[in-house]
Amino acid sequence: MNKETITKLKNEIEDIFKTDIDLQKLNDLKVLYLGKNGKITELSKYMKDVPNEEKKEYGTLLNELRVLFNDKYDKTKELLEQAELNKKLASEEIDVTLPATSIPVGAPNILEHIVEEVEEVFMSMGYDVVDGPEIEEDKYNFELLNIPKGHPARDAQDTFYIEDENILLRSQTSPVQARTMLAAGGNTPIRMICPGKTYRRDADDATHSHQFMQIEGLLVDKNISLSDLKGTFDVIAKRLFGENCTTRFRPSYYQFTEPSVETDISCFACKGKGCPLCKNTGWITVSGAGMVHPNVLKNCGYDPKEWSGFAFGFGAERLAMLKYGINDIRTFYQTDLRESKTFDRREVE
Ligand code: DAH
Repeated sequence: MNKETITKLKNEIEDIFKTDIDLQKLNDLKVLYLGKNGKITELSKYMKDVPNEEKKEYGTLLNELRVLFNDKYDKTKELLEQAELNKKLASEEIDVTLPATSIPVGAPNILEHIVEEVEEVFMSMGYDVVDGPEIEEDKYNFELLNIPKGHPARDAQDTFYIEDENILLRSQTSPVQARTMLAAGGNTPIRMICPGKTYRRDADDATHSHQFMQIEGLLVDKNISLSDLKGTFDVIAKRLFGENCTTRFRPSYYQFTEPSVETDISCFACKGKGCPLCKNTGWITVSGAGMVHPNVLKNCGYDPKEWSGFAFGFGAERLAMLKYGINDIRTFYQTDLRESKTFDRREVE
């Protein structure tokens, strides 16, 4: 038995584990000492040549050597792995001082917002919010509304025709008045508003858009007079433009109302003194309105001797432009995010 070789190997192992070892080297050491031809493995092969009386001691020493190596190997491996993990954790550490990734928050379309606002006011007065088709028949868009074929009033509402002259993109939301009355059957009171898209063959500029939005309104009941319209309009104006807002009617002309009026609000910018917004008049026009024409009531199944009503139509963009100081109607349709951001809901509410 060569005790010296074992002692030498023991010292060698102890020395080698005092040096710098990385995982790769540690692996190599395992092969070097315990691999198929490793130093410790080789020594084990001599066991068969060791005289019987020395076998036990030789075996014990060899075992101690193996335990020593394995012990050092395991400890080193654990340390190295821990260090590796710490390094990884350190590199992945969350730096809470870094600026956060900004997540853009959407804002509702400003038109949607104004429509919702108007809807809320009317709903609080018992109105239903109804819908109507954007592709409409001539009959509803014009004829039932007292605008027969060839009537000059059609010129101002030139629109887009779909198939022939009878199917068109509605040029106003007023056809929903006719649809609502016909559906109601001529014997029930009506209170409805209808916000929706409308179309006209206008060249787009700062105040015209081939697509725009109207908010139609219709009330039909018994003994309804112009003063009911005035009162209703007053409430709306105050709710939308503030308690100090006053209103006035000016005579106007629409085929489906008689009498017809333009509804004005006192200029909120100059408080009626006169400024560029109100073109120095102190008043701003916000809708067309009037008492439902007896012909329209009749066309739509309501007996004008028994029933009366008022109707109105707001331009939604105009309301929004006034309320939020927007000076170009095209702004609403350019899907420029900077615009909706400017009118973030949190600010307008
Ligand atoms: N439809 C009209 C337009 O587009 C607006 C209007 C005026 C609607 C008077 C009404 C009304 O309901 O009574 O110019």
